[in-house]
Amino acid sequence: MADVWQSSMDHAVAVARKAGEMVRGALKDDRTVMTKSSAVDLVTQTDQKVEQLIIQSVKEKFPTHRFIGEESVAAGESCNLTDDPTWIIDPIDGTTNFVHAFPFVAVSIGFSVNKQVEFGVVYSCLEDKMFTARRGRGAFCNGEPLQVSEQTDIHQAIVATEFGSSRDPVAVDHIFRSLRNILCLPVHGVRGAGTAAINMCLVASGCVEVYYEIGIHVWDVAAGSLIVSEAGGVLMDVDGGDVDLMSRRIVAAQRTSNRQRSIAEDRQRDQVLQPAE
Ligand code: IPD
Repeated sequence: MADVWQSSMDHAVAVARKAGEMVRGALKDDRTVMTKSSAVDLVTQTDQKVEQLIIQSVKEKFPTHRFIGEESVAAGESCNLTDDPTWIIDPIDGTTNFVHAFPFVAVSIGFSVNKQVEFGVVYSCLEDKMFTARRGRGAFCNGEPLQVSEQTDIHQAIVATEFGSSRDPVAVDHIFRSLRNILCLPVHGVRGAGTAAINMCLVASGCVEVYYEIGIHVWDVAAGSLIVSEAGGVLMDVDGGDVDLMSRRIVAAQRTSNRQRSIAEDRQRDQVLQPAE
């Protein structure tokens, strides 16, 4: 049977590539920085222009579809995920990286229907890596199939996370307590690319076993979540329950062996992951 969302997915890949060109071009220009929720929650005109480019082009092709876009929400639009076909857009995931020309910057486009992600596109535009996944049809990077790591021992794992943009000392203490607990499990290492979407693609690629973060938004993780699950990984809440992409917390891991559920489950036993908020 023909895939009803194939043309939308093709469009997402094409517009993500165009958006990536815009991001690369803007890196050479002056990057005027503004702030949002805190002094370290950065936004640039390029974030806004890229989101407009994506939304405009989708509206022309698919006029009935809805949108949740990071910069539209920052400008006051609602952030409700409905059953309607919805494009979930982070025009620049890794804005701080972009501002500093730190080389991990992604355009992230998820597409959901009935609150289920149907396809995900993450374009790591400075590396020129196009990560894609279609529900039930696998995950790919530049056309090559992705497979999560087979490492089932958390002690031999690399864990990715981020510090987010809250500098509230209590929240920062929670983040550091979680980090300390994880490092002392022990694990081989803790890393962070500076973008949730690329961290999730690293899990899907098999070079990072687990990524977790508390405080992310649906646009950071919608596309990456499908890329992880289609590469054989699992998603869960930080307390080990079912993931809810709107809950602002996520664990993405290589697979659900008893051992690998441990980070989330240890949260219940030993409070490994401390809530940030
Ligand atoms: C941010 C990045 C960062 C994560 C933050 C996100 P943005 O997205 O994904 O890694 O720690 O939670 O908000 O603001 O660069 O699109």
